[in-house]
Amino acid sequence: MKALVTTGSVGPGLELGEVEPPQPASDEALVKLTATSLNRGEVRHLAEEAPGTVLGWDVVGTIAEQAADGSGPPVGTRVVGLVGERGWAEQVAVPTHALAALPDGVSDAAAAVLPIAGLTAWRALEMGGLLLGARVLVTGAAGGVGRLAVQLAALAGAHVTAVVGRPERRTGLVQLGAADVVVGIDSAAGRYDLILESVGGTSMRRASELLAPEGVLVTYGRSSGDDGAIDPYWFGDHSGARIKGLLVFTEVDRRRLGTPQLEKMLALIAGGQLDPQVTRTGSWDDPMPLVRALLDRQVDGKAVLTVA
Ligand SMILES: NC(=O)c1ccc[n+]([C@@H]2O[C@H](COP(=O)([O-])OP(=O)(O)OC[C@H]3O[C@@H](n4cnc5c(N)ncnc54)[C@H](OP(=O)(O)O)[C@@H]3O)[C@@H](O)[C@H]2O)c1
Repeated sequence: MKALVTTGSVGPGLELGEVEPPQPASDEALVKLTATSLNRGEVRHLAEEAPGTVLGWDVVGTIAEQAADGSGPPVGTRVVGLVGERGWAEQVAVPTHALAALPDGVSDAAAAVLPIAGLTAWRALEMGGLLLGARVLVTGAAGGVGRLAVQLAALAGAHVTAVVGRPERRTGLVQLGAADVVVGIDSAAGRYDLILESVGGTSMRRASELLAPEGVLVTYGRSSGDDGAIDPYWFGDHSGARIKGLLVFTEVDRRRLGTPQLEKMLALIAGGQLDPQVTRTGSWDDPMPLVRALLDRQVDGKAVLTVA
């Protein structure tokens, strides 16, 4: 079967190749891929992967074989799901606890943003507790996770401040529900009950200073590539505050995330309350223009690859 394979340190980075089809476990459905989205975590180290590696986390397609244990949707159902590897292939084995059926009216491209970006945004907000009236700060707000987190936080009743890196990256964030959009975290003022931090380095340090005394900072990324040491005396001003780590795969393995949250976000998309923010699409025949755009911080939201 066809799959997107890494080319190592030479060549384009990703190209279509031939690989062996998967052998699903009893709790995995076989999905025929129609769309996937690109995530920074997948593409930032492409050249370091062994040639021929099949990456890919976000899976949208049609059930070709139901899971042998009878779980999950039947053959022919349009679905979205999450896998830890080998998602960029014609056929993907997807665990049914992280698989959801698409409602009518939700496009494949829209659903493709949900497994990684959507579930991360959902869980990070959930880790903050009750959001009604809470002050929430989202760094990296122009990106895939950020744009979904801004919307979900606003839907939950939070006062959301979105942090972007350049003025042109503000596009659309107020319409998505941000009460404030600031360029650079140094422009954020006041204290926040919940901070979603994904940039690392100086952003992480500054974010820790902006946390309310009993607040929660969820750290789930390091887009800048910089280390984020916090002030050793941070505890003095933040007694009771917490810094929590989030890795979406661990949360899915522990069954705190998966089908139920995918279904809820699909319903929000179907109802017009959540905009998936798919701003770039392309064919998996030619993935590198979208990969480069994502790495160059040119994608406002999500880039989606479709499978012809
Ligand atoms: N822990 C997990 O399970 C998990 C899950 C999903 C994502 N992540 C991580 O969370 C981060 C956000 O994911 P995403 O999919 O939203 O990524 P994305 O779409 O590429 O967005 C990243 C955002 O970070 C901002 N940024 C600030 N400084 C940057 C720098 N030096 N280099 C690159 N971007 C910079 C960019 O906004 P400006 O251009 O406006 O500054 C961009 O909007 C990534 O680091 C990703 O790896 C982790």
